[in-house]
Amino acid sequence: MREAVGIDKVSKSFFGNKVLHDVSLSIKYGEIHSICGENGAGKSTLMKIIGGIYNSDGGTITVNGEEASLRTPQEAYLRGIGIVHQELSLADNMPVWHNIFVNREITGPLGFIKRRDMQQRASEILEKLDMRVDPRAKVSTLPFATKQMIEIGKLLSMDVDVLILDEPTSALSERESQALFDLLLSLKKQGKAIIFISHKLDEVRQISDRVTVLRDGRLVGTLTREEATTDRIVSMMVGRDIDEFYPPKAKRRDGKIMLKCSGLSRKDKFEDISFDVREGEILGLYGLVGSGRTEVALSLVGADKIDSGTVELDGMSFRARSPRQAVKSGLCYLSEDRKQLGLFLEMTLEENFVSSSLERVTGQFGVIQEKQVKSISEQLMEQLGVVPKRSEALAASLSGGNQQKVLLGKWLSANPRVLIVDEPSRGVDIGAKSNIHFLLRELADRGMAILMISSDLPEILGLSDRVMVMHEGRLKGILENTDLTQEGIMNVAYGEVGTP
Ligand SMILES: Nc1ncnc2c1ncn2[C@@H]1O[C@H](COP(=O)(O)OP(=O)(O)OP(=O)(O)O)[C@@H](O)[C@H]1O
Ligand SMILES: [Mg+2]
Repeated sequence: MREAVGIDKVSKSFFGNKVLHDVSLSIKYGEIHSICGENGAGKSTLMKIIGGIYNSDGGTITVNGEEASLRTPQEAYLRGIGIVHQELSLADNMPVWHNIFVNREITGPLGFIKRRDMQQRASEILEKLDMRVDPRAKVSTLPFATKQMIEIGKLLSMDVDVLILDEPTSALSERESQALFDLLLSLKKQGKAIIFISHKLDEVRQISDRVTVLRDGRLVGTLTREEATTDRIVSMMVGRDIDEFYPPKAKRRDGKIMLKCSGLSRKDKFEDISFDVREGEILGLYGLVGSGRTEVALSLVGADKIDSGTVELDGMSFRARSPRQAVKSGLCYLSEDRKQLGLFLEMTLEENFVSSSLERVTGQFGVIQEKQVKSISEQLMEQLGVVPKRSEALAASLSGGNQQKVLLGKWLSANPRVLIVDEPSRGVDIGAKSNIHFLLRELADRGMAILMISSDLPEILGLSDRVMVMHEGRLKGILENTDLTQEGIMNVAYGEVGTP
């Protein structure tokens, strides 16, 4: 097969810290080539170099056999390279269709933009992805997973020959991911080169022709499809074997009801949702994209309105006016969208850690107690395994998975009574993910009530005591997690079996 992109001895440092060491790799047309590695291994950095976002410090990149200068995304695009970034980059206040065609607007003979044509094309592209979304909708109103799909749609519409997807499925559920994979396989058949990054090794094994593993910025090796077993990939990633196992279930199930919702409704988002979460319990919430799971969480913490229904927090009637007030009342929400709600990218790790619990570190006369900030940060970085462990680093300089750990730390420092986590292990590598699971269980054992929204079925099954399933804004059932299977949950989620 002909080589699409040749990467030869590419290196990159940030402020003297070398994060890529002489990486060489060949990407061919007609293959799906996955890149695996722990959080911070250098995957996104390498992709950004190919995509013209970062310049390398050394080495060369060839495209179609010719040395290529890729100093801007535009240059990369002209060479036929397109990329979906791990951190989404949509313009929130623009409609879906315009995001898809931004800077490539279709114009008529007089230079007027052809809005109708673009809306039509956008619809077609999203349909191919099995997505039902109005192309005229404003992006800010859409859930994270839908945004992820729109980014993918944008890449498809670019009609490039080399497609790079950096964790495109981190918030997608089974069904959406499969729609994407069908498309990627057909693009591969057309001869396109596809680079795919994911921490979900099942996916990697399902669609890859070859798998390359990076560790600490170095290339460990490339495996063929036959060689790429999960064990082999993992041991190359971390240099040892890791068992994927989950913590034990709740110690006690008779804790006090901490959060109780009855008949919650929000126009066009969700209807008649009733459930409760007890102290010491992890309630899983599963649903497809658009099922309304995130919308329920946003309403509970006051980031969106509730039209009708009641909420009780620790036995008292409760209605949050803002997420800030919810935090004060002991209800925290870890958002699936780090960028929008949650992490302050231009602030340091320690500022992020204490931002939700300033009163804890504020002394007399409102002075921030530096020492205490440091000690809280040190403890959280240790507990969560944040790399690099430097509390004065800017959040923006961390890899995606490490940003996720910091976001979790921010809410832990507020020490809530009820914690809602939305895709808690999104983009987190296999070792750190297990770490987060054990941590959530430990928090529950210490009395926290946890509502965990996730599109990762093994995570839902492995961690939840009960599983609540939503479909198209409605509650389909709440299932005890004994003898539950992935198929069992999916059947309920697809709306085929209903137990309202
Ligand atoms: N803009 C930046 N400034 C400083 N350091 C950076 C910057 N971008 C990345 N790094 C560092 O480079 C290293 C590699 O990060 P990268 O984002 O490539 O990892 P990754 O393999 O994509 O990880 P993840 O799975 O978490 O997304 C990390 O140590 C990260 O902190
Ligand atoms: Mg990354």
